[in-house]
Amino acid sequence: MGYVVTVKAPGKVILYGEHAVVYGEPALAMAVNKYVYVTAKVRDDSKIGINAMDLKLAGLSVTILENGDIVARTDYGAVISALSYVKRALEIAMEYVGKRVGVDLLIRSEMPVGAGLGTSAAVAVATILAYVKALGYDIDKRELARLAWQVEKDVQGAASPTDTTMATFGGLIYIKPEGNSVIMEPVKPGTEIPLVIGYTPRVSTTKELVAMVRRKLESMRDVIEPIIKTIGVITRRGREALEKGDLELMGTLMNINHGLLDSLGVSTRQLNEMVYAARSAGALGSKLTGAGGGGCMIALSDKVDVERAIELIGGSVLSARLDSEGARVIDDKSLPTLK
Ligand code: MEV
Repeated sequence: MGYVVTVKAPGKVILYGEHAVVYGEPALAMAVNKYVYVTAKVRDDSKIGINAMDLKLAGLSVTILENGDIVARTDYGAVISALSYVKRALEIAMEYVGKRVGVDLLIRSEMPVGAGLGTSAAVAVATILAYVKALGYDIDKRELARLAWQVEKDVQGAASPTDTTMATFGGLIYIKPEGNSVIMEPVKPGTEIPLVIGYTPRVSTTKELVAMVRRKLESMRDVIEPIIKTIGVITRRGREALEKGDLELMGTLMNINHGLLDSLGVSTRQLNEMVYAARSAGALGSKLTGAGGGGCMIALSDKVDVERAIELIGGSVLSARLDSEGARVIDDKSLPTLK
């Protein structure tokens, strides 16, 4: 066959509701126009070659042996972790098509790995879609999201379907846990949402931060529970503001949401400085996004001044817009030059 297919899948930010969503409150997530790109080229043997040129970490070449071992000349933990998603995604894609055909994969990312933008989910989604398409098969989006979620669960032990849903479908999604399942409602924005994303290296993992909030809740339920419930109220109000296109109210709600996340102990000094610098430079609102402990913040703004202010604090910056399409096959000629 010898097909070559390139796929892109978007990252995501959480506009409102992180941490509270762990306790049954809603969250609102937005897919952003920053992508993981996977090119799959069918080989005439059953080997897998991976070239992870740019995962916003050192580039490297690795081989997955027939027995499933990953061989790489690097000790760069985050890259190996990202490759675990690729390896599992390929296994699951091979099960889906019912055969093991070798491929060469080229993986590139416009987002930093491990900063909380959903890169691992985008890698899983894009790898499955690229493999399936390169072999000449089809897959519907529900099935793609389900298989990519399975990849995250297998690699991490547990995972919410949020990131893989966002990377597959794109758009804005209101997420509401209901018992053991999760209701996901697409939300139509009343206006364009201008976002600046600032990021710094993470000092704690999502798992550690979620556990820390749980310990606080268990030791001070009367103090912490109202905070979590209020974050839920903010998310509901944030959704209404988004649907009406009321950016000012959205910004105010982001600021309150950040204050409450800080009170839960998941922010860091540098994240707070970036959040306040963005507001001083004219952002309508700003907050940490994702689990915290370093990682990412968002500012509601399209001002260059806001980007510069975040950079002055030592953050790296991505300016982002809504991705409303999710994972898709692209023409190789439209591949951007990745820095
Ligand atoms: C992490 O992106 C969001 C958290 O709410 C954890 C989760 O929902 O699984 C902190």
